[in-house]
Amino acid sequence: MAAGMLAGQVALVTGTGGGLGQAIALALANAGARAAITEMPDRLPLAEQTAAQMRAAGGEALALPLDVTDLTTIQAAVDGAAEAFGGRIDVLVNNAGINVRQPAFDVTEDAWDSVLAVNLKGLFFTAQRVGRRMRDQRPAGGCIINVASIMGLIGYRDRAAYCASKGGVVNLSRALAFEWAAHDIRVNALCPTFVRTPLTAPLLDDPVAGGDILRRTPLGRLATPEDVAAAALYLASPGARMVTGQALTVDGGWLAV
Ligand SMILES: NC(=O)c1ccc[n+]([C@@H]2O[C@H](COP(=O)([O-])OP(=O)(O)OC[C@H]3O[C@@H](n4cnc5c(N)ncnc54)[C@H](O)[C@@H]3O)[C@@H](O)[C@H]2O)c1
Repeated sequence: MAAGMLAGQVALVTGTGGGLGQAIALALANAGARAAITEMPDRLPLAEQTAAQMRAAGGEALALPLDVTDLTTIQAAVDGAAEAFGGRIDVLVNNAGINVRQPAFDVTEDAWDSVLAVNLKGLFFTAQRVGRRMRDQRPAGGCIINVASIMGLIGYRDRAAYCASKGGVVNLSRALAFEWAAHDIRVNALCPTFVRTPLTAPLLDDPVAGGDILRRTPLGRLATPEDVAAAALYLASPGARMVTGQALTVDGGWLAV
């Protein structure tokens, strides 16, 4: 991808203290975007380190606190991002997400509510707040990338709430793509396979589960954060200007077989 491809654009990325969010934010910044990057208030120093890394590389970056389960912090983060960078938001990457692994027979109400509150409800209201700005800014338009998972397209053990939330993200992305196309807002879901991050390390270190995942993957390896970031960069790029309402898998072929 060409350096400077996103020059002049403003990107807001949620959940950037590590993992996929950090890699996506760095990729967008390397392509020239000015980046507002968010993190849970108690983890904000991690996002501040990411922002410092971006500024050291010559970019413009700002770390903001955001808990997507709290609509007032969504409003503050979205408005703060736009105000910091000239009133626009061109790209939103809704990356924040959690998982609670439980067999379906044992899923608790608390776990169900937490996973759905972050992964689906919080993601929607962040998209809504940013979408209204994209509708009202001049020129209107923008690109929303919702980080789902292959678990939004297939089922897998011990993650009933997670699969339900990510399936919701995939179809929500289609609904928003349909409704907001009139405002030149593209909305896509990004569906990675397993990536080693703090979220997945316990599972991937389990020889049975880890082996099962690799056996199901024709390319024979996990995805890296950079693999996922490259796909996000594509969706944000001018090359994807006719792409909306899609679920782009980054899965080494898992869903093909
Ligand atoms: N790691 C994988 O294998 C994998 C695969 C497919 C999809 N995903 C998805 O990618 C996204 C990033 O996951 P990751 O693997 O980098 O995990 P991670 O735990 O490293 O990152 C999740 C981020 O979300 C933030 N977050 C959690 N709750 C939040 C809330 N209420 N409000 C705002 N931010 C919150 C965390 O602080 C963290 O920065 C998630 O949506 C996850 O479901 C991950």
